[in-house]
Amino acid sequence: MPVVSLSPIRAISGRLAVPGDKSISHRYVLLGALASGRTTMRHLAPGADVRASLGCIAALGATVLRSPDGIVRVDGWGDTGPTPPAGPLDCLNSGTTMRLLAGLLAGFPISATLIGDASLSSRPMRRIMDPLQAMGARVAADDGRAPVTVTGGRLRAITWTPAAASAQIKSAILLAGLQADGRTTVVEPAATRDHTERAFPVFGLSCVVDDVRVSVDGGQRATSPAGILDVPGDPSTAAVWAALAASLPGSQVELTGVALNPRRLGFVAALRRMGATVTLTDTQVLGGEPVGTISVAYGNCADTVIAPDEVPGLIDELPVLAACAAHGRRLEVRGAGELRVKESDRISALVAGLRALGVTAHEYPDGFVVDGRAGRPGGGHADAVHDHRLVMAFAVVALGSTGPASINSADAIAVSYPGFWNDLITLRVPTA
Ligand code: S3P
Repeated sequence: MPVVSLSPIRAISGRLAVPGDKSISHRYVLLGALASGRTTMRHLAPGADVRASLGCIAALGATVLRSPDGIVRVDGWGDTGPTPPAGPLDCLNSGTTMRLLAGLLAGFPISATLIGDASLSSRPMRRIMDPLQAMGARVAADDGRAPVTVTGGRLRAITWTPAAASAQIKSAILLAGLQADGRTTVVEPAATRDHTERAFPVFGLSCVVDDVRVSVDGGQRATSPAGILDVPGDPSTAAVWAALAASLPGSQVELTGVALNPRRLGFVAALRRMGATVTLTDTQVLGGEPVGTISVAYGNCADTVIAPDEVPGLIDELPVLAACAAHGRRLEVRGAGELRVKESDRISALVAGLRALGVTAHEYPDGFVVDGRAGRPGGGHADAVHDHRLVMAFAVVALGSTGPASINSADAIAVSYPGFWNDLITLRVPTA
């Protein structure tokens, strides 16, 4: 259970190209497996989550070739379809792998069992089982938790309104819809990240988007894109440095090559309301995604409330926004009950860790409040409960604390951002 000890720093400063986006990487890898031809990808997300997706598609008959220069090539199964795997498919800690893969496999006449680690095995899967069963797939899991066994076959199109605003549910249904008879439609309760919809045309697939209604016709064939597919930088990773810069007076960072997808940028609006100066520049389009630079400078502290309708646009950034609030602001979040079914119960584990570091924080059933107005946290020992986003959030608290701090199960950071500690060394301005 590796523990990381951190001493306070003065500020962060400099320029950083953040690693590739995890959500987009999963989609390119899974669509690359489905496609006929070779998909060549650069700058895939570096962590264990995307490795899980690559491992699963390899076990299903796609060929995965990695070069030392970081380029990953996938030869998809194309018209032959996936081959029955020799054993269970290990999705490790990755909910995106498990849910999207279940949808991808639902239309093929093979059986596969999807397994995961203790965290993933406790997360709700009925949310994808119900629509996939309604389409005609057989999907079995005890108590709606992994292991999940998918036995695919001929699918009928459905129109589905998920109970939760979740891009994973939407994407599982759309991927299954590619093999269904007719037009499958998802009507989202609130707009979620649209990386699947943006990735489809890159692989020669079409879908129709009308606000929160997304439809896909069955019987389409995916083809690999020509040339190299570049994955833009991960805004959730950029958000960690943005929150740290907004926490430490004198900080100024430029985060380059970041996916500036509007459905991922809720944290930018929140940080601005909290007093930081945040600018977005150099936008270009890469593989259907807007990409550019996020510049952040510390600004005077202000309090804010995150409303329920903002939550889908910053769901993964709530822990680092809470950490930023610990340095001088009050932040209240409601309508974020989905946080309880992430890699950990991110409401109770976040609040417990913040308190352990000397921060005033309270839970609501569907959110939390952090009050950092009394002064800098004193430090202490926080448990990240094997959750990568909590490791980074507690690091943001610790680095601006008045005393030393340590974080338990800090190795979980390898799920999404194994280079975090090295990048911290590059950006930090040590105390005098
Ligand atoms: C993701 C969607 C979100 C997010 C997760 C990645 C995706 O989950 O929290 O980290 O890649 O589709 P939900 O769809 O469950 O909200």
